[in-house]
Amino acid sequence: MRSDKRKDDEFRSVKIKLNVVKSALGSCYFEMGKTAVIAATYGPQDVKPKHLEDAEKGIIMCNYNMLPFSVEGDRKRPGYDRRSVEISKVVKESLEPAIFLEEYAKYLINIDMQILQADAGTRVVAINAAALALACAGISMRDIVSAVAVGRANGKILVDLTKEEEDAEDAIDTPIAIMPKFGEITLLQMDGIASVDDMKKIIKQGEAACQKIAELQRNALKNGIHSI
Ligand code: CDP
Repeated sequence: MRSDKRKDDEFRSVKIKLNVVKSALGSCYFEMGKTAVIAATYGPQDVKPKHLEDAEKGIIMCNYNMLPFSVEGDRKRPGYDRRSVEISKVVKESLEPAIFLEEYAKYLINIDMQILQADAGTRVVAINAAALALACAGISMRDIVSAVAVGRANGKILVDLTKEEEDAEDAIDTPIAIMPKFGEITLLQMDGIASVDDMKKIIKQGEAACQKIAELQRNALKNGIHSI
């Protein structure tokens, strides 16, 4: 039994609110259990500095940041660090395949993600929020992007690990993002040592969970708000 009584293949309760940032064209608050993120998009706008401009396609810039009060215990040192640079990069790469970048040649789209509360899975919740913020901003997309972390803790394959589960001795943590309509993986990372069998199970469970998250995202886009 997991400490929050979830089934092994169950993700934490989800709350979604769209257009929560007045000044942004598209924005989203996405909560999964105790992990909560706000994402907001700006643009398409001119690329500055100009030499970064791409005549063939638009440029996406992602900024992932954990707020000092987002973590349990000690305050997180404010500002960017190596981890936030890495996560900004993988989030960008997980979203790009879903965007019709060729429609935004010479332009820049910024996506800012602020982690309000962190209890594991912040990068995947940031991806879920960012995909919805882009959709709210009317950015042309071939699909939404849906993400979840799947892993192993205490000998079991578990969907959407909490920080407590991530800290188990045998833990594997595998953030996965997919484009649900195409069943294509746009992010797959792994922390820990897994057998090929474990990895197959993790990817299968991740895909199934992402499909359910995609349903919640689509509902939110239809209804403007969603919570389960
Ligand atoms: O958040 P995510 O699982 O995507 O990334 P991680 O690097 O595996 O971090 C796992 C968790 O560690 C975060 O969600 C936070 O709960 C915690 N953490 C922290 O407390 N302080 C940090 N500076 C970084 C992470």
